[in-house]
Amino acid sequence: MFQVKNGWELTQKHEGLVVGLFDKPEKFGRQLAKLDEQFSGQLTELVKAGDISAKLNAINKVHSFGKIGAKRIWFVGLGKEKEFTFHKLEKALGKLFKEIKGSKVTEAAVYLDSFLTDQVDGLDAAHAVSEALLLATYQFDGYRQKSNEPERKLEILTVYCDTVPEDEVAASLTVGYAFGKGTNSARTLVNTPGNMLTATDMANYAVELAGKYDFEVEILDKADIEKLGMGAFLAVNQGSTEPPKMIVLKYQGKDEWKDVIGLVGKGITFDTGGYSIKTKTGIVGMKTDMGGAAAVLGAMEIIGETRPEQNVVAVIPSTDNMISGHAFKPDDVVASMSGKTIEVLNTDAEGRLVLADAVTYAKHHGAEYLVDVATLTGGVITALGVNTTGAMTNNEPLYEQVLEAAHEAGEQMWQLPLFESEKERVRTSKVADLNNSPGSEGHAIVAGAFIGEFAESTPWVHLDIAGTATSSKAHDLGPAGATGVMTRTLALFVERFEPIEK
Ligand code: BES
Ligand code: ZN
Ligand code: ZN
Repeated sequence: MFQVKNGWELTQKHEGLVVGLFDKPEKFGRQLAKLDEQFSGQLTELVKAGDISAKLNAINKVHSFGKIGAKRIWFVGLGKEKEFTFHKLEKALGKLFKEIKGSKVTEAAVYLDSFLTDQVDGLDAAHAVSEALLLATYQFDGYRQKSNEPERKLEILTVYCDTVPEDEVAASLTVGYAFGKGTNSARTLVNTPGNMLTATDMANYAVELAGKYDFEVEILDKADIEKLGMGAFLAVNQGSTEPPKMIVLKYQGKDEWKDVIGLVGKGITFDTGGYSIKTKTGIVGMKTDMGGAAAVLGAMEIIGETRPEQNVVAVIPSTDNMISGHAFKPDDVVASMSGKTIEVLNTDAEGRLVLADAVTYAKHHGAEYLVDVATLTGGVITALGVNTTGAMTNNEPLYEQVLEAAHEAGEQMWQLPLFESEKERVRTSKVADLNNSPGSEGHAIVAGAFIGEFAESTPWVHLDIAGTATSSKAHDLGPAGATGVMTRTLALFVERFEPIEK
């Protein structure tokens, strides 16, 4: 897909050439001066006339009429050079690649040096190019009958860079590609309907991933789960004809199995709400209730590609949440693997039940740090909207590391507090140690507090992605539908992770 070359020349033949344009007085200064000269200064005239814009995210296509080797030039507006960032670059490139996708061009070149500033170097830019290409042009094919028209899409992208050695640019493109691909895999898992992605399907997917990247894999079936006493997880599965799966993947990047990071993802393949059943409008879209699992699997794919020097155990409790004569019901009391008993007040608060046993199991596999990701509550949408992931923690230094990774990944995150008063509400039950639904006040927070009861003293961060896992609108880095949120944050968090002094 990518070719990297030093030595950019105007005569090089391409279907299209992509150059970046900063908004500043000497518009065709620096490396682009020779391009303008070749057009006898007419490009400058076009900029002055407003036909080529250097405003951030402006995309303008100009035919070259044989004046240079490339048939057409795409100018990507980059705005003010001083305000330029990696994420601005990535979004602008996303917009560009969407246009190229619509244009049916199959081959193009990018002149990378035209995008560089003091803040964004050639390696950053290369990462942005490949990641943006994958994210922006992602599509979920769905299940329509196929049309016979052959699809024309970008197949070869030559990246010219004269400021960084070719092999380093190529390496950065490969990493960006892995991040894009892992995120897109997560999107596809989330977009897949519940009848086509059961817990068994998700387990099979994980086994395949393990084979490809040499992860250790363990799939617990119903009998294993019963043996381990995971009563909270089993309760959620009780009404289903589909067997539950506890999926475990292990990646060892250090000589010893220590400083282990546990990534735990909610894998509810469809959430009806159970007997606390959802409304006929609220239930639509609940195939996305495995968005946490998808983010963890997507991150594991990136980890498999980039192979950081870290130890990771991924744990995914997967089942649907159905009703039947066998289903669990409000007032039931269940015993979790940790020994703590739980009074079920709401069967629609199932995520925290499956996560309770998954968090306990991650610790059994040696996890010393925990990050759980879950489409857990409508409450987080009320609190933070649909563009910001809600976070809770029992360990600020660990949260700082997750937040830093989110910044780097360009994913918005905001912390909600876990005060003793809300922990108390989770611990209030007349018949059990805990209750799974202490009322709707601050319910994103009490859901987090509930999971915290199982993390206990292990440093832990909880990420509620109920609002961010899907998007109702297309955006520069992807279409409407699943976003793959937190895939890149988790992968970066793992890559940069520093053990915390205890
Ligand atoms: N899967 C839902 C949360 C959700 C809501 C995800 C909207 C995506 C979009 C979760 O299992 C749930 O039903 N939570 C309840 C909790 C309540 C019963 C305490 C909710 O948010 O209403
Ligand atoms: Zn639910
Ligand atoms: Zn749910």
